[in-house]
Amino acid sequence: MTLLVTGCAGFIGSNFVHTWLAGSDETLVNLDKLTYAGNLANLASLKDDARHVFVQGDIGDRELVAQLLATHKPRAVLNFAAESHVDRSIHGPGDFVQTNIVGTFNLLESVRGYWSALPAEQQTAFRFLHVSTDEVYGTLEANDPPFAETKNYEPNSPYSASKAASDHLVRAWHHTYGLPVLTTNCSNNYGPYHFPEKLIPLVIHNALAGKPLPIYGDGQQVRDWLYVEDHCRAIARVLADGRVGETYNIGGWNEKPNLEVVHTLCAVLDELQPRADGQPYASQITYVKDRPGHDRRYAIDARKIERDLGWKPQETFETGIRKTVQWYLSHQDWVEGVTSGNYRQWVGKQYG
Ligand code: NAD
Ligand code: DAU
Repeated sequence: MTLLVTGCAGFIGSNFVHTWLAGSDETLVNLDKLTYAGNLANLASLKDDARHVFVQGDIGDRELVAQLLATHKPRAVLNFAAESHVDRSIHGPGDFVQTNIVGTFNLLESVRGYWSALPAEQQTAFRFLHVSTDEVYGTLEANDPPFAETKNYEPNSPYSASKAASDHLVRAWHHTYGLPVLTTNCSNNYGPYHFPEKLIPLVIHNALAGKPLPIYGDGQQVRDWLYVEDHCRAIARVLADGRVGETYNIGGWNEKPNLEVVHTLCAVLDELQPRADGQPYASQITYVKDRPGHDRRYAIDARKIERDLGWKPQETFETGIRKTVQWYLSHQDWVEGVTSGNYRQWVGKQYG
């Protein structure tokens, strides 16, 4: 049995590969374009593991995807590949439209071609699982209920609009062509291999480097944080038992204002690796210009996946954030590789 997984040299995808292979011998064929966010060092421990097959390429390359599907005959395709950073989408939305919308469209068409030629039994068992985000739902006021699966889509950034479009394509390929799809909409993840352009790894990195910790606006924007391995376990549950055509919201009921997250990170760092001058890391906090169109609050109502699939997060924010800080402290070589850009040479070294 084989799964074709896309974008698994990135943050969540690489964690998915590690989590999956810790509990299964099913082969994962990993199609990743290796954009700036793709880093094979995330998967270095699997270098000699035949259960992980890496292929560099674009989800929008129909010829390549058709060839991979014909060769490996996966029982499911899991689409993690995307441009994922909101700030980058504001500066340059083109790549987001290209990969998240056009790329997903091409991937769906390649998969539809493969799936429609399968024998009936395999057609029924096949799944296309699309990994999406809570940002498609828009923003919440302080007293609004958290996002349920029935919430209408109101994306506000080029990133969330491109993800919303991809979710709609996936939905349409099910309703029109019968492709057996599943969609997951998850809240903010954190944990190992998180690229240090995102808030939590950026703050850990800048704190240790003695740099400012940039807080956008008043720092009171709320995000709902989930430890990445809990997200990966939720995806595995949805793949196994999710109802075809349905969407599942994934979150850990962990709403926190950004400023509180940054103070928590500073306090854990003060304890585990105090500054040489004895000053608290929080003294590096600096308020900067707000993100244009900044969504004020996200929160996930996770009752459906809890009730229907029996999933619950294993980490609390406190245990997860401590693990995360410890991981970054003990993987400074990984951080150094990413921030210096050296990881890009890894591909050449590894694959010629
Ligand atoms: P990431 O930016 O860390 O990784 C994305 C990966 O996709 C990279 O390895 C990159 O090389 C690859 N990729 C990009 N364009 C590609 C293309 N055209 N073809 C093949 N590969 C391509 O992203 P992430 O944070 O790991 O997010 C993974 C998925 O989860 C995304 O779909 C994202 O929208 C979604 N998501 C992320 C979060 C979060 O908090 N990070 C939360 C909910 C949902
Ligand atoms: O909600 C899920 C989404 O979470 C995913 O779909 C996205 O792929 C992922 O990047 C993330 O988006 P956010 O914009 O919420 O994450 P980010 O880490 O960029 O920012 C988290 C919050 O922190 C947000 O309110 C902006 C703020 N922030 C971010 C950075 C990078 C700062 O205040 N300062 C910063 O330097």
